This record gives sequence, structure tokens and C-alpha cells, in this order.
Amino acid sequence: MKILGVETSCDECAVAVVEDGRRVLSNVIVSQIEVHKPFNGVVPELASRAHIELIQDVYERALKEAGLGLDDIDGVAAASRPGLLGALLVGLSFAKALAWTRGLPFAGVDHVRAHLYAPHIENDISYPYLGLLVSGGHTLITRVGGFDEVEVLGTTIDDACGEAFDKVAKFYGFGFPGGAAVDRLAQSGDDSAFSFPYPSLHKGERRYDVSYSGLKTAVVNQLDMFLNPGCEKTHANIAASFQKAAIGILVRRLLLAAEDTGLRRVVAGGGVAANSCLRLALCGRKDLDVIFPSPVLCTDNGAMIAALGYELLRRGRTSPWTEGASARVAGLRHGYP
Ligand code: KG4
Ligand code: ZN
Repeated sequence: MKILGVETSCDECAVAVVEDGRRVLSNVIVSQIEVHKPFNGVVPELASRAHIELIQDVYERALKEAGLGLDDIDGVAAASRPGLLGALLVGLSFAKALAWTRGLPFAGVDHVRAHLYAPHIENDISYPYLGLLVSGGHTLITRVGGFDEVEVLGTTIDDACGEAFDKVAKFYGFGFPGGAAVDRLAQSGDDSAFSFPYPSLHKGERRYDVSYSGLKTAVVNQLDMFLNPGCEKTHANIAASFQKAAIGILVRRLLLAAEDTGLRRVVAGGGVAANSCLRLALCGRKDLDVIFPSPVLCTDNGAMIAALGYELLRRGRTSPWTEGASARVAGLRHGYP
């Protein structure tokens, strides 16, 4: 079954064709970096307009790179939530129109679940496992018991992990998009130049939650307080020390969840899963079996939408033509052990 997946939830206009949820036949991603760079952040209205201009071309390229025509496609999937509403509507409407005119089954896909599902494209992964989703909008530590069993163990109580990277990068002018810029800059920095604070959340019901607002304030407003004697206040040192703390906060909670649940398999997804420090911290652990997608499947892409769409459509779970876009995450059970 060849599924065409459309992703326009934020600033990547992406269309992919994936066969049977595993074989990526094409994965075209056009980033709007140049559109949003002058503002150091994504401007929702500009993102919607850019998607309108890009989508047809991205779709045609995806078919061409797959060596297919529309007649070869068996189903269509599009991100329908969560994300920027105007941006989502472009891809969703495009995909629905395509499916409707061709009489193809259509599935609206939850973007967050698609990030969590992306590692399944390249790997045979058995359940259960700890799912780590770290993106610009979400930070979730989950227990994934099966295809439909995603239980949220912990989340952020303020900023998302990627958002913290973006805000720090924006403040110091490290570059846009922020996460990748911090990652790059940190390579030449000393990560022990600053000792930034780690949040101490209450145990019990917030056991696996993370917080980034304290770290962000420390890096942006209280920098000098955390500079270690004899160390230099350079951009590279700020980036490296911040990155170490941001990833450390996450890894600590994840290890706690692994210990408590007894789950040794960790499956990561989302833009921050492309971070070299996170990959190093987790892949180096002998006590865990860690699975990361390739970097191109970490950040927003159509392949993850097509892969999850395939799983829904082969179960007969089509969406109605009235399927709307939503800013909210759906279908995740929130709970604490
Ligand atoms: O998954 P994604 O492409 O979009 C959302 O669903 O949010 O994630 C984007 C986020 C941004 O915050 C970006 O700064 C971050 O992922 N990111 C990174 C890296 N690459 C992207 N953060 C840290 N290190 C990276 N290498
Ligand atoms: Zn995303």
C-alpha cells in the first residue's frame, strides 16, 4: 500500500510517499527558513501563505522522486493536529481534495503521534517501550504499550525542550532555527564553563515532568551568576553549557522512568532527537536499548505522516471529509503510575 503523506503543521512544507509504512519512496521537505529568519521565529500567517505557494510543487516533486503517478497511490494522509491552524489547513485541505477527487481513503494524522511513530519506519520495534518525544512544541516521556497505547508519564510544566533551545538562540543571536544552531556552536564550546541549575520538581505525581523556564532565565538573565572561575563568557561556551543542562534535565527524568517501569527500550522522536548531545548521552548507555530515527525523520517530514497514515488506513480507520484542523494533541492518555 503506497501512502502519500502531507505535513504542513509549522514551517516545513513536506510531502512523502511511503510503501507499507516502511519503504520511503520519496520524502520532499521544503523549509521556510528564509521566510521566518528575519523574525527569528515562525510567523504563523507567513507560514500559511508560504505553504499555499509551495504545496503543489512539493507534491509533484514527491511523486516524481518516487517514480510514481497519482494512479499508483492507495491512500492519502495529512497532519491535522496539533500545529499552527492556518498552516495545517493548507496541507489538510490539499490532501482531502486529492483523496476525494480520486476516491482514495483519507486519514487525518496526529503530528505528535507521527513523531513518536517515525522510528518504526527504519526499525522493527516491539512493544512496550519508553517513548521520548522532544520537539519545538512538545516534550513527552511516554509508556508505549502498543500501537494505540500511549500513556504520558511526564511532560514539561512550562516550555518545550526545543522551545528552550530556540529562545536561547534567539536571545543571543546564535542563528535560526535555534536548536541546530546551538548544537553546532556547542561543538566548539566548553560545556563546563557555566554550571546552570537543574530544576528540582516535586516527587510523586510530577516525578517525570521537566521544566525549562528556570534554565532559560538563568542563561538569559542571570548568566554571570553561573560562570565558573577562570572560564570565558563566549557564545560557544554558553551554547555548550546550556545544551548540556537542557539535555541533562531530560535524560535524568527519562532514566528515572526507565528505572521505575523496568523498560529498557527507549525510542526517541521529534526535532530535538536530532541533537548530538542527546544522542551521545543515550546511545552510550549499556543499560538501555536506544532507537533514534535518522535526523531527517526527527524533524518535521511527510514520511512519518504517511507511515502512521498507513497504520490507520490498513486498520480501516479513515477520517471523515469533515475532518478539521486543531491546535491540540489528541489520542494520548495522560496518567501517572
Ligand atoms: O519536530 P520539529 O521539527 O517541529 C515541531 O514539531 O516542533 O522540531 C523542531 C524543534 C525546534 O525547536 C528546533 O530548534 C529543534 O527541534 N531542533 C533541535 C535540533 N534540530 C532541531 N534542537 C536541538 N538540537 C538539534 N540538533
Ligand atoms: Zn514536529
